[in-house]
Amino acid sequence: MLSKSEYIRLSLENNLFWARIMKEHAIFIESSMPAFHMQLANRADMFKQHFGRLLLETIRLSNGVISKKALQSGQYYTNYTEAAEQTTQQLTGIDINSNLTKMEYNIQPSDTYTTEQIASNVSTLNQNILSQVSAFARFKSNLYVNQASCRLFTFLYTSVYEHILHEAQRYMDILTKLQEKDENYNQGYESFWNHQMDDHIKVMRGLFDPAETESFNEADRLAKEFDVIEKSETPDKSEEYDATKALSDFKSLTTEKTLQCKVKSLMSPLFTDHLLREANHYLYLLQA
Ligand SMILES: [Fe+2]
Ligand SMILES: [Fe+2]
Repeated sequence: MLSKSEYIRLSLENNLFWARIMKEHAIFIESSMPAFHMQLANRADMFKQHFGRLLLETIRLSNGVISKKALQSGQYYTNYTEAAEQTTQQLTGIDINSNLTKMEYNIQPSDTYTTEQIASNVSTLNQNILSQVSAFARFKSNLYVNQASCRLFTFLYTSVYEHILHEAQRYMDILTKLQEKDENYNQGYESFWNHQMDDHIKVMRGLFDPAETESFNEADRLAKEFDVIEKSETPDKSEEYDATKALSDFKSLTTEKTLQCKVKSLMSPLFTDHLLREANHYLYLLQA
């Protein structure tokens, strides 16, 4: 059973990470729609706005609550996030509120904090997020099913729809368990994230321009490493950590090169920065 202060801190730490992840999935969906599917793009934009508001509410409640280690882990923002948001906004025409990122720089850390009022605000926030993530999961699931059965064409891989659906389901599981004050709220995170990391590197491998042989080959090498980890029944934590760190470094380098226009691909800088933050989140969990 989680104590009240653990419940508050873990809820906000998870929401800071996941609400932003959901907001960005909406941006990726919106930017992948052919002009013909304007209605789907508009629905994705609505989800972007909802999760932006929920992230803002999370940031407001987070002051003096989040641990310093979580704040410095690179799972909420990286050195690239703000520039990646601005560049991706310019390139896609989709509004991306980077004020949220700037507000996150100013969250003050603490390890001990609890009041009745915060617990009740956090509980309401978690419930609001749960209903929004559940609606978003249905939207993603429809896109996945329609594209998998060739009734829809967009510029996101079908596997990516499945991947981001799994992330929404994982977020719902975590929040549901946190609402029950269940201390095993993040059970099975290793197999979940090993699978996600394997997906990431394969998606990156498939999105580099065919002329980018070096990046392709490095992605291919990392993908083979993650295949081994994913198939292993008892993966070693230090092995998982080292492979994820190498992946995080590769994503970081790719984001930097994308921002400097030094690598050709079908990935926006916000997309590679998003993948980078997910790797950093997994590294944070492995170190806990
Ligand atoms: Fe994601
Ligand atoms: Fe992911």
